[in-house]
Amino acid sequence: MKFPLFSSLYGRIFAIFWLTLLLVVFTLVLLPILDPRTQHTIPAPDLHRFQAAAQNIGLRLAEARGPAGQRLQQLTHDSRRKGFQLYFTSTEGEIIAPDGRNKALRNFITMADDPAKPRQRLYGRWMMAGPFQVDAQPAPVLMYVGRIWHRPPPFFIQILDKPLQLLLVTMLVSTPLLLWLAWAVTIPARRLQQAAERVATGQFEADPTLEAGPREFRQAGASFNQMVRAINQTISGQQRLLSDISHELRSPLTRLRMATALAKRKQGDSAELARIDTEAERLEKMISELLELSRMQSNGQGQREHTDAGSLWLEMLEDARFEAEQCQKQLDYGTLEAWPLCGNPGLLISALENVVRNAIKYGRETIQIRFQPGADHLEIWIDDDGEGVPDSELGDIFRPFYRVSTARDRSSGGTGLGLAITDSAIRQHNGTVSASRSPLGGLQIRLTLPLDTTPA
Ligand SMILES: Nc1ncnc2c1ncn2[C@@H]1O[C@H](COP(=O)(O)OP(=O)(O)OP(=O)(O)O)[C@@H](O)[C@H]1O
Ligand SMILES: [Mg+2]
Repeated sequence: MKFPLFSSLYGRIFAIFWLTLLLVVFTLVLLPILDPRTQHTIPAPDLHRFQAAAQNIGLRLAEARGPAGQRLQQLTHDSRRKGFQLYFTSTEGEIIAPDGRNKALRNFITMADDPAKPRQRLYGRWMMAGPFQVDAQPAPVLMYVGRIWHRPPPFFIQILDKPLQLLLVTMLVSTPLLLWLAWAVTIPARRLQQAAERVATGQFEADPTLEAGPREFRQAGASFNQMVRAINQTISGQQRLLSDISHELRSPLTRLRMATALAKRKQGDSAELARIDTEAERLEKMISELLELSRMQSNGQGQREHTDAGSLWLEMLEDARFEAEQCQKQLDYGTLEAWPLCGNPGLLISALENVVRNAIKYGRETIQIRFQPGADHLEIWIDDDGEGVPDSELGDIFRPFYRVSTARDRSSGGTGLGLAITDSAIRQHNGTVSASRSPLGGLQIRLTLPLDTTPA
């Protein structure tokens, strides 16, 4: 059964508050009943014992000669030696024996004076019980019994009497409860935070578990999922548009190149025609890279598999080393082991390849690649000794089509999509990409990728 009150966070806190209040009131009502310092009925075995003693004393008084008062004094005196204390009063409440002032007795006889209903009460460590009727001549007297109460007062009484201890116990009891409450209340908040973090790393996935729990979080979760779906639709719409445009641009471009070839054949080669051809070729390359980028962004989430760093990158790095040697450059990649990774192999290979190719292209002599596995991440550093990138542009080189101002007019310059592809691929795998100045003098790119800790 579902209570509408408990389905909201407000209702849950409200209910816990009232439950605590109820517990406090219940304890306050119960405590006086359990406290031996308040008046209580005497336990049956003690009651029978005391009644029998009173009867016995009555019989002995009847047998004895001499004034009853003296005899009673003697009895109270004897009882003290046996470890307890007998008191005798008249039925009007005047103390007959023992002599002397007795505060506890005076207090007790004002509350318990009916021999038909004997009671007991604790005074410090002294337990008073009574009254019990003793048949004496000429008038009956009332007997009270006092004894040392050996049983320690109940734990809660000890605590109640010491405010500091009471505070400590209250804290001890309430801390786990409050911790539990805080933990329980923040579960949905944490789930929402994790979902937001996932979106921040580029995983636009709706999470159905967000739409459970207290009403307030359920509503926030539903809105969050709705937002993620809307973003997803916008992104995939844009990606589809990009992919369609790139695709559609290819046909006129092919026709343009064919027309240039025909013109060349008819009129012979000319500088203008050669220029048209190079630009068309550049455009074609750009379009095919754009197509690759959009394809990667739209289906990067699928086709994930358990793999390892060695089988992913060894072949590509060997090729790159060979390529570097052809350009009289030295590429060194240290040790590459089978560190476990999970992802789309194609994307992961091209992510590192684009950075390594840049290093070969822009480096002068040396390209250094280092792999460093951590507790849960694999770090990859790619350094070169080229010109590097001005500090102010380090963050921009990951933007599509961005080329550093000095490289823009270089004839060798690429389209500026390589690092955008790397950035997109690594972020789709929950990794990070950053650029800085290399100790070798050129550019240093640092990639991190989470290691695969789930069993295959
Ligand atoms: N190792 C490097 N040293 C110096 N500059 C670099 C280095 N790597 C990248 N850059 C600069 O960053 C820009 C963007 O790099 P990116 O790889 O995205 O494009 P590209 O290499 O120009 O073209 P593409 O890789 O698409 O063929 C480059 O144009 C270049 O100016
Ligand atoms: Mg490049």
